[in-house]
Amino acid sequence: MTELDVHLDDADLARALRADVATGLAADLKWLPPKWFYDARGSELFEQITRLPEYYPTRTERAILVGRAADIARITDAKVLVELGSGSSEKTRLLLDALLGHGTLGAFVPLDVSVAALRDAVARLAVEYPDLAVHGIVGDLTRHLWAVPRVGGRLVAFLGGTIGNLVPAERAAFLSALRTVLDEGEWLLLGADLVKDPAVLVPAYDDAAGVTADFNRNVLRVVNRELGADFDVDAYEHVALWDPDHEWIEMRLRATRPMAVRIADLDLDVNFAAGEELRTEVSAKFRPAGLADELATAGFETRHWWTDPDARFGVTLARAT
Ligand code: SAH
Ligand code: AVI
Repeated sequence: MTELDVHLDDADLARALRADVATGLAADLKWLPPKWFYDARGSELFEQITRLPEYYPTRTERAILVGRAADIARITDAKVLVELGSGSSEKTRLLLDALLGHGTLGAFVPLDVSVAALRDAVARLAVEYPDLAVHGIVGDLTRHLWAVPRVGGRLVAFLGGTIGNLVPAERAAFLSALRTVLDEGEWLLLGADLVKDPAVLVPAYDDAAGVTADFNRNVLRVVNRELGADFDVDAYEHVALWDPDHEWIEMRLRATRPMAVRIADLDLDVNFAAGEELRTEVSAKFRPAGLADELATAGFETRHWWTDPDARFGVTLARAT
């Protein structure tokens, strides 16, 4: 049994995109939030990224979950698995299988801003898990957590390191909002990418095949299509750099020549100087103690911390206190 609850319809999405583009492109240092990468093409490009040799997070987190899914099921006894930023829910099948095997799971609630990714995932899950109730929510995890069903025994999974795509203030607001929609004793399973040698980090965001560059430019295609803009997408070069002060990777798009961009639906003209950059994503990398502190501040107690042999990626199991 599957259903899809739409909390972000086309009109809401258009409104939110217009507001973000108007704010971000008017700033001195131009920026756009990364959630706008993920139309159908962007979601597919992300799936391709997860299979690149340079992009270690997905397979590393997957290996941790292979080893720990049974423990997670035993510790949490979860009746409902909620997944934020669920995308294809590919790794999540490890948790679904473990929780179904454990005998407690009754429903799965994936939430994603990408209607294309969510529809596809929910359709596949309906075939693979015909007896599981799947309740998809099209929504923004920074705005629509209230739409998560208020039933007991929930485990909220937030995988892939997507927490790192929120800037620190957004992250703190998100974690405390999440805590308020959970009851004491419910669980958060959080995947976070860890601080490491930039020689490993940077290629993960600047792969030899150019898939990440294509993913990065996709945000311009989205703005062109949705807001009638005329970005010359190929005239922007992909930039990925490690910021050691913030301990995050920053993705940017650099104008290769001076450009005047018309955003018709906003009646807005935006100028780019040659070499000017537009920030499209931060991907923060974490240290275990810092993450536990952030969780504690929001009202979560870290009960388990699992990593891989090279300490590349961490999975935290935390309890709402
Ligand atoms: N969890 C999956 C997918 C990660 S890609 C994995 O671990 O592989 C990031 C996902 O988060 C995408 O599907 C994207 O659409 C979604 N996303 C990004 N920002 C979001 C937001 N603000 N609200 C809801 N979903 C978001
Ligand atoms: C979804 N998120 C965790 C990815 C990341 O690694 O920050 C998005 C991504 N950006 C470039 N490559 C992948």
